[in-house]
Amino acid sequence: MNIVVLTGAGISAESGIPVFRGADGLWEGHRFEDVATPEGFEANPALVHRFYNERRRFLLDDVEPNAAHRALAKLEERLNGKLVVVTQNIDNLHERAGSKSVLHMHGELLKSRCTSCGDVVRCWEDTGTGSRCDVCGETGTLRPHVVWFGEMPFHLHEIGLAIRDADLFVAIGTSGRVYPAAGFVTMAREGGARTLELNLETADTSGVFDESRRGPAGRLVPAWVSEVLGGDRNPH
Ligand code: APR
Repeated sequence: MNIVVLTGAGISAESGIPVFRGADGLWEGHRFEDVATPEGFEANPALVHRFYNERRRFLLDDVEPNAAHRALAKLEERLNGKLVVVTQNIDNLHERAGSKSVLHMHGELLKSRCTSCGDVVRCWEDTGTGSRCDVCGETGTLRPHVVWFGEMPFHLHEIGLAIRDADLFVAIGTSGRVYPAAGFVTMAREGGARTLELNLETADTSGVFDESRRGPAGRLVPAWVSEVLGGDRNPH
């Protein structure tokens, strides 16, 4: 059985990373327009660097993968078939839990990109408007390697192929408000896959899934993984 799992902010919530669409409509106290658009970066690059520096430091110093991330890593290891995790999250919690096949469609907090030479590099330190690109030597050209509103997500071709080959599509912890990710469930259904949603609350796309389960990912995901592995006998 081939499985594609789409994850959103909800899977990292129990690790302590706040979801995007909190009750106040802000992302960590900021308007999306200010910290998650190319226009926001152009208007105030220092603020945007500071914002992602804070998120990066918090991720590295204070956050650990939770039971849901670990269960997906175990599923990948033991599944008789292929599991691809497509994540909208910019954290590295899937990898830290042991997942190998992870596609970060909205980029990664631990990478930055040079707007002059296009090079993408690992980034574990703070960046700022005075940072220098180690590859081309230009100063002031680095930006977070994350996908902002109005920009094209990464890996769409590969994601399309994985969904086409999937027997089961599972969305975990995502509000279904942001496209193209919100449209993957429809692609999966059209390709003949069964579709399952594991989410705390009803999401915009909930009605499209064959089945929806409500609760925290830390409880629902390990239970679902046990079901799949229980019914999928394999020598491991
Ligand atoms: N377990 C499961 N689901 C949860 C949990 C939890 N512990 N906590 C919250 N949720 C659910 C919420 O009910 C909500 O439906 O996770 C969802 C999170 O929704 P969003 O905050 O909108 O996050 P996401 O869907 O990942 O956002 C998509 O929007 O801002 C952009 O690029 C950003 O990747 C992000 C994209």
